[in-house]
Amino acid sequence: MAARLVSIINMKGGVGKSTTAVTLAETLAVHHRRRVLLIDLDPQTNASIMAGGPERWNAARKADRTLDAFFDAYATGEKPAPLKSLVDKQVTDLKDNKGKVDVDLIACAPELRYVERDIIEKFVKQQLHLDAIQKRICQWFSQGLKTMTDSYDEILIDCPPGISLFAEAALISSDAILVPSIPDYVSRLGLIAFRRRAMGMIRDKRNGAPTTMFVLATKYDETFSLHRSEAALLKENLGASMFDLKIPQTVDIARAAEWSETKRTFEQKYASAAPVIQALGNEFLDKTSSLAMAA
Ligand SMILES: Nc1ncnc2c1ncn2[C@@H]1O[C@H](COP(=O)(O)OP(=O)(O)O)[C@@H](O)[C@H]1O
Ligand SMILES: [Mg+2]
Repeated sequence: MAARLVSIINMKGGVGKSTTAVTLAETLAVHHRRRVLLIDLDPQTNASIMAGGPERWNAARKADRTLDAFFDAYATGEKPAPLKSLVDKQVTDLKDNKGKVDVDLIACAPELRYVERDIIEKFVKQQLHLDAIQKRICQWFSQGLKTMTDSYDEILIDCPPGISLFAEAALISSDAILVPSIPDYVSRLGLIAFRRRAMGMIRDKRNGAPTTMFVLATKYDETFSLHRSEAALLKENLGASMFDLKIPQTVDIARAAEWSETKRTFEQKYASAAPVIQALGNEFLDKTSSLAMAA
């Protein structure tokens, strides 16, 4: 069965996108035996380093085996290495008693932010409009992904904050979009604007193929009445599109982001937050099980 493609995105930074991408990847692999590919599309490279550790990330950069190199080849007119060749297998610092944990990674380097500019510059010189450039980026990305969809159950893409042509390509290619959001007033305004704009853009570009957007409350502090009321308001407005689970703000989630040189179990890694991360995987599968699979 072909992998389901899910983009994790929000216009805002610091809302827990990368944390959601990595924790979700790990619980799906550990507790549901899903074969997960995590793709880091953010030049901040947080997911790359959180999921695979700094040494592996440095090695991938030195060997030009990061996502920016794939797109850069199109900017410079070289033949790109297959997207598949950028995959690092079973990267996490987790161990489990059933064997290795199936989280594979395509890492990203900070250079990705310049590659987009180079691509735009090249094609604008050839008189292409932005829409046509975006279409090409989408084609390169989805052709690359197509060669891998049979090898995975889930492909999770950690997107940069804001909207870039790469992030739009990820959204257009995705079967589902997961938007981590802190339940406060400013975030809600941003979320409404993003939802309207992104869904409009996707409808235009996806030729009718369905996409579902889910919202997950992150960094939730039960003791803030504002968080409680904003989360309730989001749920009221979004219904089933909003996760029932809220990811609490807890030091155990922040601490788990730090790479461990020695392998650890899921429970060792996430400590008191292990059950909530496991519940995230459960609800994710419940919510997405009815979605159409990627072509
Ligand atoms: N539930 C949480 N509890 C505590 N800290 C968190 C939580 N989620 C994320 N963080 C921390 O907040 C910061 C931003 O998270 P990150 O996932 O990098 O956000 P984004 O990818 O949206 O920029 C990081 O330092 C991360 O460890
Ligand atoms: Mg991030």
